[in-house]
Amino acid sequence: MKILAFVALTFAAVVAVQQQPPGISQPIVEDCGFGGSVVCVNRYAAVLPYHFNRSITSLAADYDFRNTSVPSAPSFSLLENASFVVFDRARGLQYLGSNPAYEFMFAVGDNVHEAPVYVPELNKLFMSQLPPVVAPISTMSQYLPQLVIDLNRQPLALEEYITEPPIFAPNGGVYHDGRIIWASSGGFNSSVLNGTEQRIALHAVDPTTNVSTVLLNNYFGFYFNNMDDVAVHPTSGDLFFTDPDYPWFNGRVDTAPQLPTASYRFNPATGATFLVEDTIDQPNGIAFSPDGSTLYITETGALTGSIDPAVGPGTKHYNTTGRRSIYAFDVAENGTKISNKRAFYLAQDYIPDGLKVSREGLVLTATGHGVDVLDPTGQLVVRVQTNHSVQNVQFTGERLDTLWMLGNKGISRVHWNITGQVPR
Ligand SMILES: *[C@@H]1O[C@H](CO)[C@@H](O)[C@H](O)[C@H]1NC(C)=O
Ligand SMILES: *[C@@H]1O[C@H](CO)[C@@H](O)[C@H](O)[C@H]1NC(C)=O
Ligand SMILES: *[C@@H]1O[C@H](CO)[C@@H](O)[C@H](O)[C@H]1NC(C)=O
Ligand SMILES: *[C@@H]1O[C@H](CO)[C@@H](O)[C@H](O)[C@H]1NC(C)=O
Ligand SMILES: *[C@@H]1O[C@H](CO)[C@@H](O)[C@H](O)[C@H]1NC(C)=O
Ligand SMILES: *[C@@H]1O[C@H](CO)[C@@H](O)[C@H](O)[C@H]1NC(C)=O
Ligand SMILES: *[C@@H]1O[C@H](CO)[C@@H](O)[C@H](O)[C@H]1NC(C)=O
Ligand SMILES: *[C@@H]1O[C@H](CO)[C@@H](O)[C@H](O)[C@H]1NC(C)=O
Ligand SMILES: *[C@@H]1O[C@H](CO)[C@@H](O)[C@H](O)[C@H]1NC(C)=O
Ligand SMILES: *[C@@H]1O[C@H](CO)[C@@H](O)[C@H](O)[C@H]1NC(C)=O
Repeated sequence: MKILAFVALTFAAVVAVQQQPPGISQPIVEDCGFGGSVVCVNRYAAVLPYHFNRSITSLAADYDFRNTSVPSAPSFSLLENASFVVFDRARGLQYLGSNPAYEFMFAVGDNVHEAPVYVPELNKLFMSQLPPVVAPISTMSQYLPQLVIDLNRQPLALEEYITEPPIFAPNGGVYHDGRIIWASSGGFNSSVLNGTEQRIALHAVDPTTNVSTVLLNNYFGFYFNNMDDVAVHPTSGDLFFTDPDYPWFNGRVDTAPQLPTASYRFNPATGATFLVEDTIDQPNGIAFSPDGSTLYITETGALTGSIDPAVGPGTKHYNTTGRRSIYAFDVAENGTKISNKRAFYLAQDYIPDGLKVSREGLVLTATGHGVDVLDPTGQLVVRVQTNHSVQNVQFTGERLDTLWMLGNKGISRVHWNITGQVPR
């Protein structure tokens, strides 16, 4: 009996081993130094041992890669507390540099934090906060001030920032020629917004006087839907912005969308607006490569909602099978020609929201609880993991080697060997 039981046990163990697919690289994940804050994933975990299962993200819970259940690979749990996950070891460790650091900086409300703009002359980081979804919309009564961090002062503090006149709900921002360009994403009658009627618009702010002006607030009389993010073409200075349709079901406007979702180019010198792209369901983040020859636009159609005028705020859906990719485009003729749309990267987590391109040409996108760092071929090199959602990122500092990450419930930053494009 004893021998039989031993044989049966051995047989069961052999069977269990044989069930695993050949080709697994062990360990799947390993410590790559810095006290466990940096881990390396071997061969992109291309083959995982059975049974593995990643729960499906919904609006209620975000399951990222580290939440995948892989009980047969104990090393997988090293992902849990890592701040940096290196996928390409040689380049990833070089980009992290000799002293990578992750710091959680500020606990903030459970609302979207966006539109980060670094003003190098002042060494200040400006950003916005969007109001939480309020239904019914008639009860909306929140003009929320923007925020600023004066990086010259210690300890760092998050302070309110109000322009004159005020701006409601910037959703994207970029520095250009000494000014903050904010793309605002809310529109209400004056009763809601402290006596100022505001419609979705591009604004320019002088960060010294705090005076704001409106550059664009309509397309031949139609209100824009959102103005989610904005980028400056490096040689022409034209402003490229995305216009998805989130504010209606998020309760930030009192009018349902009037235009198809699209992306545009605005020429500040002439006032002319040009359609550049209208095949993306929800165009969101937008950024140029340093030489201006490639444009990246994120598609966040996996997160959508009703634009029916009869259906109000709070009607959002999220679906992992929906579109949540970055697309790349060729840019020619001094920023006037966009062509050759191609799929660049499918977000490993949630949706690719804001994005920036580093001086090295790396594409950094805010996805779920972290930031993915991609090379110009779309290969994931490193992921920064946060314990809060990240909607957008911004480089700061003299060397532009600090990256701030903003989202619901948290603002954090990393110091590393990746540098931002020089603001101009
Ligand atoms: C994966 O995990 C989720 C959550 O625990 C569970 O509902 C689902 O049935 C699992 N699916 C598989 C195929 O294991
Ligand atoms: C995913 O894992 C992180 C790290 O362990 C944890 O904080 C988070 O709660 C997990 N998410 C879900 C939805 O379980
Ligand atoms: C991650 O950190 C938590 C809290 O400190 C700890 O309980 C857990 O064991 C850690 N996980 C791993 C894999 O080290
Ligand atoms: C930082 O990155 C540059 C290339 O961008 C590289 O030459 C340098 O060796 C890296 N520094 C470290 C400490 O890895
Ligand atoms: C707007 O009005 C509300 C309600 O009267 C007030 O609490 C808030 O401080 C005002 N905000 C600004 C920026 O004036
Ligand atoms: C502009 O706002 C800042 C707050 O960030 C304030 O310190 C400064 O005095 C303001 N400038 C003017 C001219 O009001
Ligand atoms: C691009 O356009 C801008 C604005 O019209 C102009 O100042 C600049 O000289 C142009 N650059 C090139 C390379 O054509
Ligand atoms: C906004 O105000 C105008 C002028 O008072 C009014 O005609 C319009 O109905 C209002 N719109 C909404 C959506 O409240
Ligand atoms: C998710 O998307 C698929 C494909 O578009 C669709 O068939 C399905 O109904 C969607 N599910 C939800 C919950 O929206
Ligand atoms: C994230 O971690 C920091 C400590 O590093 C903690 O103070 C903060 O409350 C955490 N935030 C969330 C949303 O869990």
